[in-house]
Amino acid sequence: MITTRYIGELEPDTPLFFTDFLIVGSGIAGLFTALKASEHGRVVVLTKKTLKDSNTGLAQGGIAAAVHEADSPFLHLEDTLEAGAGLCDIAAVDVLVSEGPARVRELMEIGASFDMKDGNISFTREGAHGRARVLHSADATGEVIRVALVNKCIGNSNIEIKEHHCLVDLLGNDDLRTCHGALVYSSITGRSSVYIARCTIIATGGAGQLYQNTTNPDIATADGMAAAFRMGAELADMEFIQFHPTVLFGYETQRFLISESVRGEGGKLYNNRGERFMGKYSSMLELAPRDVVSRAILNECNTTGSEFVYLDMRDIPAASTRFPNIYRNCLLHGIDLEKEMVPVSPGAHYTMGGIKTNTRGETGITGLYACGEAACTGVHGANRLASNSLLEGIVFGARIVDNAGEILYHRHINKDEIHRNFDHNWLHHPPLEGVSPADAKGEMQATMWNEVGIIREQTGLKKAGAKIEQLYRSLTRGDDPLTYMEMVNMLTVARVVIQAALWRRESRGGHFRSDYPQRDDLNWMKHVSFVNL
Ligand code: SIN
Repeated sequence: MITTRYIGELEPDTPLFFTDFLIVGSGIAGLFTALKASEHGRVVVLTKKTLKDSNTGLAQGGIAAAVHEADSPFLHLEDTLEAGAGLCDIAAVDVLVSEGPARVRELMEIGASFDMKDGNISFTREGAHGRARVLHSADATGEVIRVALVNKCIGNSNIEIKEHHCLVDLLGNDDLRTCHGALVYSSITGRSSVYIARCTIIATGGAGQLYQNTTNPDIATADGMAAAFRMGAELADMEFIQFHPTVLFGYETQRFLISESVRGEGGKLYNNRGERFMGKYSSMLELAPRDVVSRAILNECNTTGSEFVYLDMRDIPAASTRFPNIYRNCLLHGIDLEKEMVPVSPGAHYTMGGIKTNTRGETGITGLYACGEAACTGVHGANRLASNSLLEGIVFGARIVDNAGEILYHRHINKDEIHRNFDHNWLHHPPLEGVSPADAKGEMQATMWNEVGIIREQTGLKKAGAKIEQLYRSLTRGDDPLTYMEMVNMLTVARVVIQAALWRRESRGGHFRSDYPQRDDLNWMKHVSFVNL
């Protein structure tokens, strides 16, 4: 029998579709994997909004890979391990840096073009990289890659893309050790459907929307992580959230990123007293790891009584040409970055943890795979090296499909086994009266930002845990099923982030505890992971 830990409505006439590969998510990991998978079978890609809505399209800095002759995968490995603060899986990083250059060349072959100088690729540098190794397309690298992938996928007769189709829950056998596909909700028709697949791949991205300030778009609601967790997959390293130091200051939740490559090209940070402050915090100055710069900014804001610091780009030659996207967006906010400094403060940017996988994307549940930000392959450890995320999506997405022959050979789905009588194992029981999904979102985001943000400590984390629990229990269905499902997913994952942050009584990478400010290698060179039993 097929079962689901289902959180939505299932009607008796719910339509059933069959495919070889079901890919949930349409960022770089989802679409690159779809292209690879299409060489082996039929592929359905589900995307919650449209192909334009992903973190990939917003990525500015670029994609890191040791493709320059003076660089090497080993040097890239060293920088990745250093940034990861002792918790990277070395074997996974080795795969990332050694297979990365070939995958990047494939991206170029399908039409992603990177900036050139004198006939050679022009590399930029970002924080914690020992050398300039970041390929970029001005400051809109992600969008260039996204468009190239979308064009290829749309022209591929083996790939069917379903926009406005949201993952409700994964389908499994009785003991939830084998995945058979997913229950899906269309926000256009308001109907659910069932996709039965031989291989289900989660590529839904991260959890930035858990926070009040984030660079992530509104789709980044941890749906894949939550669904995999409900099914029994492990979530690992969830306490490690990366806060990007330089996000254009404002009061909206999703805020505009000012790429680290700006600091790589000479951008400097000043507090509101006009002091260049990074020298007080790190010998690497503005190019220190993101957690160090973010905490430094927070400290400067607290000591000078300001909500932001300034990023000065005025000394960067032709800044408006090198960073046209940033230039345009700042102008929209009334700031001419060639003439004035830009107010910035940190925002949640990247979830280092996720669905635990091995280097073949396997989750431990037969038929269920994960890649990209939704996955925890172990390459980022406690802190991701800048521009390693796009690379991770393509390297590990491709690796899932490397195994396609075996996956498709062994996973024959017998239609007779598929019963319509899904076993509803409800995990969330919405009360009739309580807090609406929209209100719960605001309360959750403020709680996570204030208590589970850049600096954490036990009392605040416990307070946050109690608040999230209370929101979970009082969450009503509201009017929009999608918002309700997203809220269940975000609260599910927020609980895991908080619990992991409480358990890790030390500071490391993206997790800083003011009550345990030191890194403690003796006790904490280990991972915290959760399974929903
Ligand atoms: C940036 O351009 O600063 C973001 C790149 C990344 O997060 O890797």
